[in-house]
Amino acid sequence: MSGLRPVVDGTGGSALCRSAPVFELRGVTVVRGTHRALDEVDLVVGPGERVALLGPSGAGKSTLLALLSGATDPDTGAVLLFGEDLARLAHRRRRELTARVGALTQDLDLVEHVRVLHNVAAGRLGRIGLGPALLRLLTARADDEVREVLARVDLPWALHARTQHLSGGERQRVAVARLLLQRAEAVLADEPASSLDPTTARDVLELLRGSATTGTTVVSLHQPSAARHTFTRVVGLRRGRVALDLPPGRLTDDLLDDLYARA
Ligand SMILES: Nc1ncnc2c1ncn2[C@@H]1O[C@H](COP(=O)(O)OP(=O)(O)O)[C@@H](O)[C@H]1O
Ligand SMILES: [Mg+2]
Repeated sequence: MSGLRPVVDGTGGSALCRSAPVFELRGVTVVRGTHRALDEVDLVVGPGERVALLGPSGAGKSTLLALLSGATDPDTGAVLLFGEDLARLAHRRRRELTARVGALTQDLDLVEHVRVLHNVAAGRLGRIGLGPALLRLLTARADDEVREVLARVDLPWALHARTQHLSGGERQRVAVARLLLQRAEAVLADEPASSLDPTTARDVLELLRGSATTGTTVVSLHQPSAARHTFTRVVGLRRGRVALDLPPGRLTDDLLDDLYARA
């Protein structure tokens, strides 16, 4: 595959967006060290789209997700959330918008030594400062809402368990329960299925899909096979550029081989 000729099919999503996009990257470049982690990337994700983000290690997937969540700023280009350019916003407005997006990072960001209920209750906090966040975290009670989301991820018994005692799959589901409580409009997740067996991985992807109130999700995947099921659109990154953008039904083994081919 030539990095200069991306395989892009308009029916993959962006060309059909009629309402205001949830996420938009315009000519975004992110420089890390001596090279470009993302290089002139354009991407539009509309409400309800479920995007699987594929690509070899180092392609820029985590960097792209960090941009969409507002955790990272681009060196050039613009990041828009719900139609507003983050760089042009006052701090407070920017926080209001980023709080409408739920993000699951690769390390899950769980506090290890507290009980599960505290980690789940943190979903309500949105993006407030660390001090208030910790205070609220430690005083959280096991209310009905916390019990309900833990039941939805099939962990009702874990309410008072210490987070550090849970297995990898259980911890992943605690992080999803926290997202459910956030009631985010859109959800971003960075390789949420990478350490899970195929059945648990499928369950977690389905839960993530249900955790975004508009259904809008962008999820990076280690295993491309999952992209064919849960998602409406597949975006492939290679060396910081969009190398393919297709509906899952058009993703062939040859395209995947090209995407993951060694340099
Ligand atoms: N903090 C950083 N410092 C230096 N290089 C980085 C940093 N973060 C990412 N990179 C580099 O940017 C590129 C893209 O990284 P990343 O977005 O993590 O890729 P992916 O998630 O697809 O594996 C990689 O080459 C990586 O080494
Ligand atoms: Mg990554």
